[in-house]
Order: sequence, then structure tokens, then C-alpha cells
Amino acid sequence: MKMSPTRAKIIDEEVKWDKTQTIISKTDIHGTILYMNDTFEKASEYNKIELIGEPHNIIRHPDMPKVIFKVLWDALKKGKNFHAIVKNLTRTGRYYWVITDFIVDKNENDEVVGYTGRRKAVPDSVIEKIEPLYKTLLEIEKVKGEKSSELYFDAFLKEETKKTYDEFVIDLFQNELKPPANSEGENENKENKLKKSLNWFFFGDFL
Ligand SMILES: Cc1cc2nc3c(=O)[nH]c(=O)nc-3n(C[C@H](O)[C@H](O)[C@H](O)COP(=O)(O)O)c2cc1C
Repeated sequence: MKMSPTRAKIIDEEVKWDKTQTIISKTDIHGTILYMNDTFEKASEYNKIELIGEPHNIIRHPDMPKVIFKVLWDALKKGKNFHAIVKNLTRTGRYYWVITDFIVDKNENDEVVGYTGRRKAVPDSVIEKIEPLYKTLLEIEKVKGEKSSELYFDAFLKEETKKTYDEFVIDLFQNELKPPANSEGENENKENKLKKSLNWFFFGDFL
């Protein structure tokens, strides 16, 4: 019989992990974990044997509003890469915040075969901006239901950010983290490109 890991009681404490590292996992098209790196093990407090073959929502934190994952899956199913800020749950019930770069994996025939998630630590200043929004969304979900939360989120993005969620996340980071630049002029040029991508951040590609 297949044994799935049991879920722990929630502890309001951040887990300790090496925030200079990247947490990586790969899934099939249904979100079943196929691969994770050593940093994933350390941050999540699970070992690979426990997590391989399990659904990725095993590390879903109850503070995360459902609408964020709905927007994520809508993008992935359209074959679009995506960025999200996520609070994750560890084996002992602790948490860690990450920004995730989701990539759609395709085979040589251009068919989607799965997804890769690359995660970096999130600066406190970004968490301070996103946490109140997630709390509001979660509260709406609890009191008024998921559809209301989706409609509010959509209206919030249009009214208060004039961006999609993906662009909103990229901009939050752009304001907090700047890649090194050799000169002022070059920096200006890079700023425009950064709007479209956080590759420099996840892959050390400084454009
Ligand atoms: C490559 C990939 C990585 C994912 N990483 C996470 C993650 O780190 N934390 C998380 O809560 N959900 C993650 N998800 C989303 C989960 O599959 C799931 O949608 C989410 O946890 C919400 O659970 P639910 O869909 O059962 O409501 C990931 C999905 C994919 C495809």
C-alpha cells in the first residue's frame, strides 16, 4: 500500500534554509512531483523519497488563497510561463516564502510534457506588500466564496495595478532588486527588458 506523508499542525515560524540557493521541482502535466533538488529537501523538510509521486499541493500553505493557483494553472494550461509569490508549508508545519518561476516543459514535437518550478527567497519588503492582499483574498474566499475572490482579484489588478498578476509580481521584484549595471545608460536599457523577464534573477543571466 502507498503511504502518503501526513500533514503537520501549523506553526507560525519561518523554516531556516540557505536563501542564496534555488529550490527546484519538476512535475508532470497534473502537478505530480517527478523531481526535486537538495535545496527543496532542506526548505520543505521532506526527503525526496517521501515527495516523489505526490501531488505538489502537499506543501500548500493554508494562508495561500486558492485564486493564485487558479491563475497559475490557467496560464500553464495555455502554455504560458508564469511567476508567483507563494508561502509554502514544511513538513513540521513551518513556512517559507518564495518567488517561483514556472516554466512549461515541451518535447521535440512541441507538446507539453510537464512543468518546472524554480524558486528564490523573497525580500521582506515584497512579503510586506503581498501578504495583506493574500489575507484579503483568503478572507473573501472563506466568507463569500471562491468566485467572489476571483472577481475581486481581477478588479484589484485592473484598478490598483493596471497589470496582470504576473506583471505585478515582476514589477514588485524589479523595484526591490536591481541587477548590477556597468553604466547608467546600460542600466536604463536593461530596465525595459527586466519588465518582461526575471531571467537575470533565476538564471544569473544579466541580459
Ligand atoms: C511545477 C509546479 C510547481 C508547483 N509548486 C508549488 C509550490 O511550491 N507550492 C504550492 O502550494 N503549489 C505549487 N504548485 C501548485 C500545486 O500543483 C497546486 O495547484 C496548489 O498547491 C493548490 O492546490 P490545489 O490545486 O489542490 O488547490 C506547483 C505546480 C507546478 C506545476
